[in-house]
Amino acid sequence: MHTLELPVLTEQQQLLSSADGAGRALYVETYGCQMNLNDTEIVQAIMAGQGYRLTTSIEDADVVLLNTCAIRDNAERKIHERLKHLRYWRKRKPQMVVGVLGCMAERLRSSLLGEQGLVDIVVGPDEYRRLPELVERAFEGELGIAVKLSRVETYDDITPIRTQGISAWISIMRGCDKFCTFCVVPFTRGRERSRPLASIVREAENLWEQGFREVTLLGQNVNSYRDPGGAGDFADLLAAVATAVPHMRIRYTTSHPYDMSDRLIETMAAYANICPYIHLPVQSGSNRILQLMNRHYTVEQYLGRIEKIRATIPGCALSTDIIVGFCTETDEDHQQTLELLRTVRYDGAYMFKYSPRENTKAWKMGDDVPDHVKSQRLDEIIQLQNRISWEINQTEIGRTVEVLVEGPSKRDSTQWQGRTDTNKVVVFPHIGATAGYIVGDVVKVRIERATSATLLGCIAE
Ligand code: SAH
Ligand code: SF4
Ligand code: F3S
Repeated sequence: MHTLELPVLTEQQQLLSSADGAGRALYVETYGCQMNLNDTEIVQAIMAGQGYRLTTSIEDADVVLLNTCAIRDNAERKIHERLKHLRYWRKRKPQMVVGVLGCMAERLRSSLLGEQGLVDIVVGPDEYRRLPELVERAFEGELGIAVKLSRVETYDDITPIRTQGISAWISIMRGCDKFCTFCVVPFTRGRERSRPLASIVREAENLWEQGFREVTLLGQNVNSYRDPGGAGDFADLLAAVATAVPHMRIRYTTSHPYDMSDRLIETMAAYANICPYIHLPVQSGSNRILQLMNRHYTVEQYLGRIEKIRATIPGCALSTDIIVGFCTETDEDHQQTLELLRTVRYDGAYMFKYSPRENTKAWKMGDDVPDHVKSQRLDEIIQLQNRISWEINQTEIGRTVEVLVEGPSKRDSTQWQGRTDTNKVVVFPHIGATAGYIVGDVVKVRIERATSATLLGCIAE
């Protein structure tokens, strides 16, 4: 299999590489969204700069870091469980340093220190530059915490260490100022701030040279991106990246419907390498609930955006996020969400039960929809959406689609998988070394079967 070389360390990273960490092994586990995955790559770069080497086995690790998510209660529960399991390793390796990073670290702060007799350091998303210092002190037996949020930190000068694949994430901004009433992100990631446009374009160019074939520009609300020097907004950034790396597939996430401008939609249509796929979280189909959620749009305005997208970018795939059981949600509100799913006919959706988060506005509104009602509503929307996704995917049968080859399929290694530009997973038999294509190539696949989640076919030609 074609594998990518590890990106070369920057000069600054090389200079530092003889420093404190000297050969100690770092293991990082990542939970939550793509921004966290990219943050882990930044953390790896910071630690490698101090001489730590990366390992994929806990057994081998001197430092274990969990980069955590706080978006819903079950995300946090998973981490508490994981910490319990890590006690086993701690007993075998008492010198091991364990740290909690990310959104849960920011939310729970010092209450995490010493959890399970285990957590040595707690570091929030804007304090990763302090990690080497805190880890060193932890080796001397000192507990450490760093959870200040910053108005300026974007880690713009740090080249993330990406260890796999042909697809890379680029964080273009950090934080969120939207304050949806259910959401913990503005509290765990702080105020919105953008990286310079020129530096993002340079990063995309470097990634192309290193062999990456797809980049996803990341932000909690990319539509509020603004170059700090006034060089443009998100549509300008997309156009600049698309021009600089004309053969790179370009994706982005996430858009907030309120800020999804006509200009952005038109920019997407103007460049062949900007993928015709938009994740546009709607959250609910009820105007009353949308208002309680502080989403700043009505169902009618949202549908207007969908119409504009479909008229401007033919064949554009769409996905969304839905929360069921938000405070005061009635059966009528729920029916309106089902109706919205039927109207838009998304290619896919991420669907969640409302989970109250402390300190958010909605926390004070209460959590009055009983769990069994939330479960029932969730089942209903999942069933409906699966049926719609299945029906849409059936229409792909008989078509030949362009697939960016990612590698062996997760379920069956005799098959390979890749994605269409509309972000659909395509699985096809790999015909061995003589196949004439490798990871990172774009191949034509004729679709023969489809489930609600996957297209299956054979190489055409
Ligand atoms: N910034 C992105 C999403 C961030 S979180 C956006 O605005 O789209 C991803 C999704 O998690 C949200 O879209 C929402 O559907 C869900 N989510 C956020 N907070 C939640 C909560 N308290 N309970 C349940 N789901 C939640
Ligand atoms: Fe959370 Fe809303 Fe910001 Fe998304 S836009 S991160 S849901 S506050
Ligand atoms: Fe989770 Fe933080 Fe991302 S709460 S979803 S890891 S921004």
